[in-house]
Amino acid sequence: MKPFYLTTAIDYANGHPHIGHAYEKILADVICRTKRLLGYEVHFLTGLDEHGQKVEQTARERHITPQELCDATAQEFIETCALLNVSYDDYIRTTEPRHKIIVGDILRKLFEKGDIYKAEYSGFYSTRVERFLQEKDKVDGIWPETEFGQVTEITEVNYFFKLKQHRAWLIDYINDHGDFIFPKFRAKQVLEFLKDDINDLCISRPKNRLSWGIELPFDREYVTYVWFDALINYISAIGYGGESFNQYWPVDYHVIGKDILVPAHSIYWPIMLHALDLPMPKTLLAHGWWLCSGEKMSKSVGNVVDPIDYAKQFGADAFRYFVLREMNVGQDSDFSHERFIGRYNNDLANDLGNLLSRNSNMLRRYANGVVPTVSLPLESLEREMVDAWEQTQSKVLEGYEQLQFHSALENIFAFIAKANRFLEMRAPWKLAKSNDPKDLEMLHTTLAVCSEAVRLIATILIPIMPGIGQRILSVFAIDQATWGTQLNWDLNHLAGRPLAMDAPILFPRIA
Ligand code: MSP
Repeated sequence: MKPFYLTTAIDYANGHPHIGHAYEKILADVICRTKRLLGYEVHFLTGLDEHGQKVEQTARERHITPQELCDATAQEFIETCALLNVSYDDYIRTTEPRHKIIVGDILRKLFEKGDIYKAEYSGFYSTRVERFLQEKDKVDGIWPETEFGQVTEITEVNYFFKLKQHRAWLIDYINDHGDFIFPKFRAKQVLEFLKDDINDLCISRPKNRLSWGIELPFDREYVTYVWFDALINYISAIGYGGESFNQYWPVDYHVIGKDILVPAHSIYWPIMLHALDLPMPKTLLAHGWWLCSGEKMSKSVGNVVDPIDYAKQFGADAFRYFVLREMNVGQDSDFSHERFIGRYNNDLANDLGNLLSRNSNMLRRYANGVVPTVSLPLESLEREMVDAWEQTQSKVLEGYEQLQFHSALENIFAFIAKANRFLEMRAPWKLAKSNDPKDLEMLHTTLAVCSEAVRLIATILIPIMPGIGQRILSVFAIDQATWGTQLNWDLNHLAGRPLAMDAPILFPRIA
């Protein structure tokens, strides 16, 4: 089986991590962890986009060198990934020699093939999105400042990569490959962009305008354009042309935000790959944007959500839970502190937290801290729990597969609520007061059923809440590495197992 290969966008080195970056890494991480849960070998790549005008400018403003800025930013992004429990396998920085060498090789190859040519060009450049704009980027006759920032007219001699001639091929490719773009409705947007002629892509900047970039191997007066450089990270990191490249390529998912689907990932990148005779990515996964009270987050408005604050204050897993529960992958979503606290207290502290602590307290109190062995056939209430789990498992795994994490979580939490109701109905605290041996048997069965439910909930939650999942399993001294993929209901799993510790309070309520 081909290893599963997934990438995220590489973040600009001139910014600080915010919820948008954090969400993308978490989403990517959850997908990778669901694949690992299903037994795939996974290669997960993320990284930092370090060249370009914005990085050069920001470094100048801070009186440091671009490299110093990149090093500091890389550290900040890497620490954020660690804090959020993002399990990447490789972190690529575009100033690394392994990347620069391959960008140089690719430029040379395309130049020699005649896919790159030199010409004079006059156009309108936006530093904010680092590209020359086209008429079709205009809204009501202007390039909106909110999207493109300041736009400057530039006339200069540059190198161009031939895009135009591949337009018809790309349209056919998109029409023939329904899975190429997720969600499907975004393919329309790409096809709309391809309706008219597309300009060839200017891939160089003269060094007197931009020096912070990778030099063109065939003209030392120029560096390459930041997007051309950045997109290549997806193949440079896995050693383009070598053995591991052949093992991992084509990529399964490029996880990106909707803002960088058109034209960078859906037009430039497929055509670059096509010109290199490489297979296309299987899926471009364009997620939506996090907004704040319906508005775009921005420093000037002061509504930027800092993922680090949330993860430090409430735990990485609570933050991961929230962003996945609230966002339907592909759509936009609104972040609000009140909603976060609501989900935390209701779903995590009340529903999940209570089930765990009740289960471990009752095992201690009524079964000497050992999960009882069940000898009698199950009664209908217990059988209902087994059936409910089977349905939950299949819906959740399907949700994971279809990237419907919000509905997968809804199903898991419906099962958690059912387990809590099951305890209310069986009322072990009453059974424990009875002298009837049948009641005692029932008490033990209830505890065994509830413990197995807890084990399964923890296991299936691992991709989304890896820390919490493992901590719950640790209560039963289960090591995730060896047990973490057992998703079938089986009362023998835990029978006779002593509690290794009392359940910790995983989600202290927030007042
Ligand atoms: N450097 C380019 C990507 C190059 S990929 C070869 C870039 N960097 S970025 O730092 O601006 O954005 C990184 C990712 O974060 C992008 O996928 C972007 O869509 C995502 N997000 C940035 N702000 C966001 C939100 N508010 N919400 C969700 N994701 C957003 O673009």
